[in-house]
Amino acid sequence: MSAITKQNYRGAYHFSPQAKWMNDPNGMVYFEGEYHLFFQHHPGGMTMGAMHWGHAVSKDLVTWEELDVALAPDELGMIFSGSAVVDWKNTTGFFEDKPGLVAIFTHHLDMPEGKPAVQRQSLAYSKDNGRTWTKYAGNPVLEHDAFIDFRDPKVFWNQETNEWVMIVACGQTVGLYHSPDLIHWTHASEFGEGIGSHDGVWECPDLFPLAVDGDKSNTQWVMLVSIGADPACVEGSRTQYFTGDFDGKVFTPDEESRNIRWLDYGRDNYAGVSWSDVPEEDGRRLFLGWMSNWMYASQTPAEEFRGAMTLPRELYLESREGRILLVQKPAQELEAARLPVLSLKDVSVQEINASLANLQLQSYEIVAKLTRGMSAGFKVRTGAGEQTVIGIDAKTQELYVDRQASGQHDFHEWFAGRHSVELEAPGEIDDLRIYVDRTSVEVFGNRGQAVITDLIFPKPESAGLAVFADNEEILFISLDVYNLSLPAANGDNQYSEG
Ligand code: FRU
Repeated sequence: MSAITKQNYRGAYHFSPQAKWMNDPNGMVYFEGEYHLFFQHHPGGMTMGAMHWGHAVSKDLVTWEELDVALAPDELGMIFSGSAVVDWKNTTGFFEDKPGLVAIFTHHLDMPEGKPAVQRQSLAYSKDNGRTWTKYAGNPVLEHDAFIDFRDPKVFWNQETNEWVMIVACGQTVGLYHSPDLIHWTHASEFGEGIGSHDGVWECPDLFPLAVDGDKSNTQWVMLVSIGADPACVEGSRTQYFTGDFDGKVFTPDEESRNIRWLDYGRDNYAGVSWSDVPEEDGRRLFLGWMSNWMYASQTPAEEFRGAMTLPRELYLESREGRILLVQKPAQELEAARLPVLSLKDVSVQEINASLANLQLQSYEIVAKLTRGMSAGFKVRTGAGEQTVIGIDAKTQELYVDRQASGQHDFHEWFAGRHSVELEAPGEIDDLRIYVDRTSVEVFGNRGQAVITDLIFPKPESAGLAVFADNEEILFISLDVYNLSLPAANGDNQYSEG
């Protein structure tokens, strides 16, 4: 692959396509040592268009290799979002000697003017670790005569009932189906009426069990539902979650699910779902989302490609003060990419800023511990007139990201803003883990309960970093900064100002 220059917008350690448009992650599955990441891709343009599945693989969740496009439109339509699984037991009959991958996706067929598009679920399979795909001759395998929006099937093997389960978005609800073979599907139930946010169309659901506090005898089910951007809604598109019980057919939400809860309180983590078939001995529920927002996704500053994914994250359920919280942590593999820059203990704001004064960094990680009760934080990607402020407000008990002066923002009137999340059941220490890259910040606070993912578009030379606090004498318990420039990490992801 040739070296790409002028890619000011390409993250050093976030996945982006080599060229053109990308939105949702699709078909995330682990198989034979590789994490597969397929994605909504328009290889012919910088905005959404004829949707394909692009494809990338990673062995370590940090570096990605982009492969050929996996699925292209055909007579049944474009290839919209969906999932992939390993058919270990050859329930489909597609495989002979060894298990292979099956993709379950939405075929989206545009109809003549005035008629709504038709969305149906289809299959494709691969016998060579996702390198080449055959579409199933009997497609589509699932259609609906009432729903216009009927898409984004996420499928998993239910060990209790020995069958496949599909969760699929149906306009303002999700449908649950089951199947012995991925080909014949039976409707089981519908979920979503009268619960959750209905500010936009329901999309890209996911459903999986998680052990509470790691205790496998106490498992709860988590449902993710992304909702599309409504022009009246300043937040744009975002992802909500529900917790509850699932008996193989019906999802029963718990009391907590009566409140609307968001996976991420920033603006740029959408359509995320979890990886299928992560080995049991690993046991993690790994997640990644599209780092953009339908409100302005087609207008963000871009050159040659448009779109990036969030970092891969691990999802947990943790009980704190009698409540069960969905918690996110960056995948631990990212720690292997750290290049230590600074490590300080028990230092004042003044001392830290003296150490940071000469640093110029674009792509890095900050790990900080602060005594609770102070308002403090970081100014990242600072330069002439530019800064992104990330902090904890002790009065309001909030974590926030303020991107009002972060850089280019006038491509959409609602891009600039301050986004915050309440710190729930906080401990004695305020911990902050911040990932800064060329066009993004991902902030994990309060042991992963408070998460904010935001795009930013600073000038490349806005590479300063500073801390602030309501009292300059204040001590940070510790502060570590790691460079994550990963010069050779993402294929050709080097930045050059050429
Ligand atoms: C979510 C979404 C999906 C759809 C895909 C099309 O971002 O709208 O519902 O399948 O994008 O690219």
